[in-house]
Amino acid sequence: MIRMYSQIIFSILLLGLVISCQNNTEKKKVEPVSTEQLAKEITENMPAQTAGKVHPGKAVYTKYCLTCHQADGSGVPGMHPPLGPGSWTGKDPKELVAIMMKGLSGTIEVNGEVYKGFMPSHAQLTDEEIADVLTYIRISFGNSFDPVDAALVKKVRSGK
Ligand code: HEC
Repeated sequence: MIRMYSQIIFSILLLGLVISCQNNTEKKKVEPVSTEQLAKEITENMPAQTAGKVHPGKAVYTKYCLTCHQADGSGVPGMHPPLGPGSWTGKDPKELVAIMMKGLSGTIEVNGEVYKGFMPSHAQLTDEEIADVLTYIRISFGNSFDPVDAALVKKVRSGK
């Protein structure tokens, strides 16, 4: 009986030894990465707003848009359209500023999905805040479009 137990215990120990040896050899295969290389990879793989500096439009987005369009811009199916690639975010900045000024309602289609929602006007925001938030959505959520200038917001606001 005791012999049987000791055999079992010995087998378990042996198994443990084999597994830990395998782990060791796996660990050895990992190539050391230099700090510069790591920093470069992080910068290249992260969206602009998280690569060291936070875009000022993120705060505006968090305060005024996030509840409907969600933190990752994915929206809410059937209710609030997404803002990522294929959405209206890449449209002519003048149209986007107009949406900020007047809001948006009625039937629209985004990425093949139909929305009949209501987005309120955000004309109470300053020219800079609107430029910042539009720039932010244009470089976030997988988008990569040109920034929007506060001068353009001013122009559209005054109807010129
Ligand atoms: C109360 C919810 C709500 C808020 C807050 C809101 N939106 Fe919207 N947004 C909507 C809805 C709903 C639509 C679609 C309207 C329709 O169906 O006609 C829309 C449409 C859009 C569109 C065009 C369609 C698309 O998805 O590309 C953009 C761009 C947009 N919103 C950006 C913003 C930005 C930027 C903010 C913050 C400044 C914001 N929205 C705040 C609900 C909201």
